[in-house]
Amino acid sequence: MALIPIVKYGDPRLKRKAQPVDPKDPSLKPLVRDMFETMYQSDGVGLAANQVGLLKQVVVIDVGGREKPEPLVLLNPVIMETGGEVEEEEGCLSIPDIRAKALRAGFCRVKALDLEGRPLEVASDGLLGKALQHEVDHLNGVLFVDRLRMTSKALISGKLKALKKETERALKDGKG
Ligand code: NI
Repeated sequence: MALIPIVKYGDPRLKRKAQPVDPKDPSLKPLVRDMFETMYQSDGVGLAANQVGLLKQVVVIDVGGREKPEPLVLLNPVIMETGGEVEEEEGCLSIPDIRAKALRAGFCRVKALDLEGRPLEVASDGLLGKALQHEVDHLNGVLFVDRLRMTSKALISGKLKALKKETERALKDGKG
């Protein structure tokens, strides 16, 4: 197993759409293993393949944490249903140390394939529901900072700009 460097805000790969995957692709199992390890190491509850620089529709989620892990793998996830609205604080491993209140549906139901290619449905109105929306957004090139009220966005815009600059400098130096 290996940790994979996480792509940071300002990297163009976070703005691009991921492509559907074939569950039979033998590279997926090692990728998913490494994505889980990377996510747990960073204390995250979700990670999309865009965040490790791959434009593949692969998401790992675990809202259970280290003590009671509930690992969930979603290939080619699609949001089938949403309901209600909440505005709660979110963060993202690609946007470290910046949190803000994002607007989300309160309830979310997603259809996907599991790592064996079997159809899978997940629905939640709790943390998992928000994680599902956050990660499916990643696959569509959308970040939680794109889902803020103007007033919330204004509060973090300075920090975001600084992070973007830092990322662009690292990419230019070939370290991104
Ligand atoms: Ni994220």
